[in-house]
Amino acid sequence: MLPAEFYTSLEVFTREREQVFRRHWLYAGHVSELPEAGSYFLFELDGESVVVVRDGEGTVRAFHNVCRHRGSALCREAAGRVPGKIQCAYHAWTYGLDGALLAAPNMHDVADFRLEDWPLRAVAVEVCEGFVFASFAEVPEPFAAAHAPLLGRFARWHLPELASAHRTCYEVEANWKLLFQNYSECYHCPVAHPLLNRLTPYRAAWNDLDEGPILGGPMKMSREGGSMTMDGRRCAPPLGEVGGEDLNLVHYYTIFPNLFLSLHPDYVLVHRLEPLGPARTRIRCDWFFDRRRVGTPEIDPARAVEFWDLTNRQDWDLVTGAQRGVASSGYVPGPYAELESQLAAFDRHYLRVLGEEPTLARERRAR
Ligand code: FES
Ligand SMILES: [Fe+2]
Repeated sequence: MLPAEFYTSLEVFTREREQVFRRHWLYAGHVSELPEAGSYFLFELDGESVVVVRDGEGTVRAFHNVCRHRGSALCREAAGRVPGKIQCAYHAWTYGLDGALLAAPNMHDVADFRLEDWPLRAVAVEVCEGFVFASFAEVPEPFAAAHAPLLGRFARWHLPELASAHRTCYEVEANWKLLFQNYSECYHCPVAHPLLNRLTPYRAAWNDLDEGPILGGPMKMSREGGSMTMDGRRCAPPLGEVGGEDLNLVHYYTIFPNLFLSLHPDYVLVHRLEPLGPARTRIRCDWFFDRRRVGTPEIDPARAVEFWDLTNRQDWDLVTGAQRGVASSGYVPGPYAELESQLAAFDRHYLRVLGEEPTLARERRAR
């Protein structure tokens, strides 16, 4: 395990803000939240607010939700639709969906004022398999290079064709890394998740990505053609072109630093993490189904929602207990089991990103 300060100290948390969350690509939302030109949602994290909007050409764009006049927040609702332009409610400066300033009333008598000098400030945005990622970095690492193992990996699920049938938000008294670590092992499943462990015996898992920013792999279900639901049966027809052995597997991946992707044969569960402090994390969970079937009797999301809500709450209980423990003077970092190899891989990647050599962390541990 990492030394306590990585889970408790404000200094480490401040470094993470700069070196992790303001530098890396972050999962923001899904293209289904932007169905037409002018559709937008706000992506908010660490005091930042970003408008993610679909422009008139169908391109997904992102801008700081900050008026170039006196800084007012432009969009106030978490999601909605603007009529082809974004108008500030304060003094009516008006921007196109490409961010260009189109009108600024009464500014014509200001010497040297030119509309073209004051566009909305763009935020880097990238759409990958229907998922929208944003980066606060001035010059982010090219998305494809940063996420090479992700590209095309889940094509058979037809992820761009999904839509969320249900969303639940949670706030948990635990460091965001404890949530990553908890998601990345099933060592705890026999004790903590009796139902889940019946559907997927905890040792029936293997990793096909075990180093770097994307970690995870499949897990075999005990029931052929089943799914992770209250009764272990599928709650929707298989997605896209999912077939063959995938009908008996759940695929679990963590995508550094704020996304968990759980691909079932019939639906996809998405956890989005938002660190609120060293010991507090907000988690937004979406249950994605085939968009054409959402709201029809062809699917029954409730059995999947109930299953993962139950499992989530069992996990939140574990991680809040872990947070209390690592914050205690009695905590000394313990050893990982072989079943926790992904946690060691997560720690290695995290320490590399933070510019901490694993050896340094080992020395701190020894102190
Ligand atoms: S602050 Fe937006 S128009 Fe003045
Ligand atoms: Fe769990």
